[in-house]
Amino acid sequence: MDSYPVNLLDAFIDQIDLGIIVLDDQLRICHWNSFISQRSGKNLQQAQGRDFVEVFPEANGEHFVKVIELARERAKHVYSHWLDNLPLVELSGDCGEHVRQLQSTLFFPFKAANGERHFGLVMYDTSAIAKTSEHLEAALKALNRKQSEQEQLLRKLETANSQLLQSEKLAAIGQLAAGVAHEINNPIGYVFSNLKTLDGYVRDLLKIADAVDSAADLDELRQLKRNLEYDYIRGDVEALVNESEDGIDRVKRIISALKDFSHIEEEEFRPADLHRGLDTTLNVVNNELKYKAEVVKEYGVLAEVECIPSQINQVVMNLLVNAAHAIEQFGRITLRTGGADDWAWIEVEDTGKGIDAKTLNRIFEPFFTTKPVGKGTGLGLALSYSIVQKHNGRIEVDSTPGLGTRFRVWLPVRQPAPAPQQDAPPA
Ligand SMILES: Nc1ncnc2c1ncn2[C@@H]1O[C@H](COP(=O)(O)OP(=O)(O)OP(=O)(O)O)[C@@H](O)[C@H]1O
Ligand SMILES: [Mg+2]
Repeated sequence: MDSYPVNLLDAFIDQIDLGIIVLDDQLRICHWNSFISQRSGKNLQQAQGRDFVEVFPEANGEHFVKVIELARERAKHVYSHWLDNLPLVELSGDCGEHVRQLQSTLFFPFKAANGERHFGLVMYDTSAIAKTSEHLEAALKALNRKQSEQEQLLRKLETANSQLLQSEKLAAIGQLAAGVAHEINNPIGYVFSNLKTLDGYVRDLLKIADAVDSAADLDELRQLKRNLEYDYIRGDVEALVNESEDGIDRVKRIISALKDFSHIEEEEFRPADLHRGLDTTLNVVNNELKYKAEVVKEYGVLAEVECIPSQINQVVMNLLVNAAHAIEQFGRITLRTGGADDWAWIEVEDTGKGIDAKTLNRIFEPFFTTKPVGKGTGLGLALSYSIVQKHNGRIEVDSTPGLGTRFRVWLPVRQPAPAPQQDAPPA
């Protein structure tokens, strides 16, 4: 079979878009293709027989020595990538100008026809990849910028959120004040009317006492007692005093609940008795609940929970008020507690109208409300969510339209230790 002419291979090697250099065993230049002549600007005839690193002094480095060693001693094909401005051999780009290069090389030993060892050096100009990587780098930088912008936005949002919390607190206080005024008005009203009645009784009793001195005889005194209905007064005084005591007691309880509730500015986590907080909250919102539902307490056994009590009270208040609003006529609200492992939970269950699946997806969104304009702000659950999140807890909801809804707030009994600073040196 006729072999193809040798110059076909020569032509191919001369046209290929790769640099090819052949070195002898002593690393002297034997041959290279036109790619090298064109890109290095060096003349092959002048270079032939000279040391490779003499012709290309930039290659004379520690890394190239290693490459030679690997190829020579272990007869290996050694692939290398010469990054950035440190190519193995400085070559210009297509248009003659120096471009930033990513140069890849393959260095390998081979035997020539006469049996002598030679080395082949193939060089790929991978500048295009370098360009792509430049683009990638730029994209990465842009991405980083975007990320820091987003972080800034997030910080702004956090500030807005805490401002919102503040204004919601104020709104809640206003609502509370109205409820409390109503609650106090009632007992104060009857204590006042009892006092008036007692005033009349005391006057009559004084009349009788005065008559002891002025009456002509005992019969006149007895007559006066009968006229002034002394026996009735005697019986009624006790009832009036008892009722008034109850009224004052009720006012006292509301005032002490208010005191607990007004630690609204506190931001410190501390171990607290959740049941005490629940009772306080129930007292405060009683006015909103009592016309809508019978409240059933099913408290479990709970350890003290590390929390910001006033904030947990707010969450429970929001859940209780929502429950009352969900009940159309008259229903039942069950306030349950329990614990499992290192967690405590509070549950508010109502027999209200329930929440359909579409609405359920949105209830924690700020400003989402199904209540008429001016009725709901749509912040109750959003704030509750952020409070519970701050406590490293979670809120679960379970609702059946037409039957009712159950919210369960899970809180860790102890707060996790704060995460170490990110830029702190590793321990
Ligand atoms: N127990 C519940 N039963 C039925 N729907 C509820 C219940 N709790 C919340 N929702 C629904 O979730 C929505 C959002 O509740 P959220 O407490 O955040 O706002 P709101 O009660 O509408 O207004 P705000 O609490 O600010 O006065 C309510 O409008 C209601 O549709
Ligand atoms: Mg609400």
